[in-house]
Amino acid sequence: MRRFLVAGNWKMHGGLEMTTELISGISREVLNMATISEQRELAYDILVCPPAVLLQHAGALAKSLPISIGAQNVSPHTSGAFTGEVSLPMIAEMGCEYVLIGHSERRELFHETDQDTAEKFAACVNFDKSVVPVLCVGESLSERQQGQTELVVERQLNAVIDAVGIQGLDGAVIAYEPVWAIGTGETASPEQAQAVHAFIRAKLAGLDENIGQRTQILYGGSVKSGNAEQLFSQPDIDGGLIGGASLTVEGFVGICRAAQ
Ligand code: G3H
Repeated sequence: MRRFLVAGNWKMHGGLEMTTELISGISREVLNMATISEQRELAYDILVCPPAVLLQHAGALAKSLPISIGAQNVSPHTSGAFTGEVSLPMIAEMGCEYVLIGHSERRELFHETDQDTAEKFAACVNFDKSVVPVLCVGESLSERQQGQTELVVERQLNAVIDAVGIQGLDGAVIAYEPVWAIGTGETASPEQAQAVHAFIRAKLAGLDENIGQRTQILYGGSVKSGNAEQLFSQPDIDGGLIGGASLTVEGFVGICRAAQ
């Protein structure tokens, strides 16, 4: 059985105080909910991805809490003259267990190509410590309107599979985020999301049945407490990658409730 993962992508929001409040508040509330439901441990995983400069603070806070920390981006290079970049050894040292790779904002605003994304993913696979890549894929509105959703998602997946082989995806997380649903308040319907999740799983399973079945596939795009339950009840949706609603304890914990 796949575990649910509820992941918050803070994007370029927050500071030291907000990091403390969110991490301690989320932890307190989810543990309270778990006690009420008589579970000794959380039945799902929680991840928060603060901006790079807050990772050290977040990592130290989360050490003894049921929350993992992830970075929002990473360089494919280990070290060197790459001004402004951060490397896998650096984020791992700050306590990161995950890193987002190929978020649509990186692809669109920073012109990251499928090839760039594949290189970053390959760097995670080849890294000697465990930093799990969360590969983000998804189509734009015009691509969906032109019936190219599967084509685009498959192209994005293939770039990574070509770089690391299907075995390289073992243990990775995939996040399906239709670009038109990000930050717009317009969520994909559970059926629309499920259809793409099933497509992704079938694609992986066609190459390796076990990897296909055990890969966590998250949905992202205007997830909130009011729609999380319906989305998470779909057979191939294993949690969410949350933007706006991950910036308050109440918003994020409301979504965690749907995963427990
Ligand atoms: O990484 C998260 C996604 O971009 C979703 O953002 O929940 O604000 O739509 P959103």
